[in-house]
Amino acid sequence: MRKLVIAIDGPVGSGKSTAARRVAELLGYTYIDTGAMYRAVALKALRRKLSLDATEELVMLAGASRIDLRAQDGGQNVMLDGEDVTKEIRTPEVSQASSKIAVIEGVRRVLVAEQRRAGANGGVVMEGRDIGSVVFPEAELKIFLTASDETRAQRRWREHQQKGDAIDLARTLEEIRERDRRDAGREHSPLFRAEGAVLVDSTAMEAEEVARLIAMLARETIGNQTGQTVR
Ligand code: DC
Repeated sequence: MRKLVIAIDGPVGSGKSTAARRVAELLGYTYIDTGAMYRAVALKALRRKLSLDATEELVMLAGASRIDLRAQDGGQNVMLDGEDVTKEIRTPEVSQASSKIAVIEGVRRVLVAEQRRAGANGGVVMEGRDIGSVVFPEAELKIFLTASDETRAQRRWREHQQKGDAIDLARTLEEIRERDRRDAGREHSPLFRAEGAVLVDSTAMEAEEVARLIAMLARETIGNQTGQTVR
């Protein structure tokens, strides 16, 4: 029986990564964080001091980059042209830059092709902004995960605090709102709740609850396909 493609989309700090990683673990699937791919291209552009408006150069840069996502201890290591950039892609500067290069259609085309290859055989939990709408519109299970702006800002702020980054909460809230506006307002593949996506509001939910809910929906979907109850 074919394993599912589970698409999880949502705005910054909605809990996508934690949920997707845990769902993959619960089901024995592969976790794929597509945002990491946009971040890797953004990091390379910043290092080369390319203008983030230089569309053609950025498309070429994306096409000439080798990005490997490697499963590691339930998470994912991100390799850019053979270099481990897992930590480097998580700075606020790279966050903003990735959302800026993600508006470029050609960059998206390159990365979407990679993502489709990665999920072609099913058995993946893929998270991003356009997975259920563009990358895998036929995904057997689609989730649109969200939470209040304040909750999302607090989660992101806590992550930065834990890493020792000094950034204040008000600034974090401002940054996520700016990124949301860009991600949802862009012309190509904007963030929206895809047709058939189950809306999950994680504001008052623990990460584990979110993951178990999605895993339960996945088992139900598998059960509906096979006519069996899957535990
Ligand atoms: O999920 P993230 O915050 O790591 O993603 C970084 C940026 O990449 C995000 O602001 C928008 C972009 N992105 C996208 O446009 N499409 C995706 N499927 C994933 C991320």
